[in-house]
Amino acid sequence: GRVAVIYGGLSAERSVSLKSGAEVLKGLLAAGVDAFGIDLGAEGQDPLTQLMTVQFDRAFLILHGRGGEDGTIQGVLEMMGKPYTGSGVAASALGMDKLRTKQLWCGGGLSTPAFAVIGEQVDLDAVSEQLGFPIMIKPIHEGSSIGMAKVTDRSQLEAAVEEARRFDSAVLAERWISGPEYTVGVLDGRALPIIRLETPHDFYDFNAKYEANDTRYLFDTQLSSAEEAELKILIEQAFAMVGCRGWGRVDVMLDDRGCFQLLEVNTAPGMTDHSLVPMAAREAGISFEQLVVEILRTAGL
Ligand code: DAL
Ligand code: MG
Repeated sequence: GRVAVIYGGLSAERSVSLKSGAEVLKGLLAAGVDAFGIDLGAEGQDPLTQLMTVQFDRAFLILHGRGGEDGTIQGVLEMMGKPYTGSGVAASALGMDKLRTKQLWCGGGLSTPAFAVIGEQVDLDAVSEQLGFPIMIKPIHEGSSIGMAKVTDRSQLEAAVEEARRFDSAVLAERWISGPEYTVGVLDGRALPIIRLETPHDFYDFNAKYEANDTRYLFDTQLSSAEEAELKILIEQAFAMVGCRGWGRVDVMLDDRGCFQLLEVNTAPGMTDHSLVPMAAREAGISFEQLVVEILRTAGL
């Protein structure tokens, strides 16, 4: 049947999704799949009308952020009876919510950095005391490090919280983990090769992700093979615990006591030419075309 690659959207990650969508469409066409693209929300169009007025049999979802990666479009496609790639409604909604993902992992006995929620009435002195510095400030429902800041002392906290609130009324404060940071793609529930991230910036921010060319992506993880195996099992558990399906990517930091601390799961991770899942797949001997076809296949299509 005909595959609609659904990309674009109206979130703060629209520009990333435009790139991911173009790559996915190119890959599917190169693999001989009957595919076309829908730029959701393009030029102010109504997304529902767009979905209802085109003919397709299944969807490759490559929207990032709210309104696309968060269960909403998944719900629409459920109602339309159209199969789609990736996680279902509930896991997508959870994955978009960094706080509830962390609570879920904690409840299941998996480690995630200590955290506090910054609501309307929060006492920032108490948060500082609880977590110590540095602290990471993150909008709870955002991706690509948008609105995130590393705060190294109390005087910077208000400004960082205010900046995060531009993107989301719900803000998370997380204890800083020195790292290194690892990211692990998941395909069909199985971990792909581990990537270690090295950036000269404070953290792996939006610029480091998509613009700078000074981030290093290393398959030399500097972990023993036992640690690598442990990390892969952790990633697969973390993915399964959120109820994710098909494919995704889990980000994790190694703390100074040698424990892996889970940061978040991405249920529709980037597929741009700077992105990590395609890189990891390539390391596993899976070409980009094979990867997109495999993602389509894991949707039970
Ligand atoms: N949220 C971005 C697209 C990623 O996780 O790759
Ligand atoms: Mg994310």
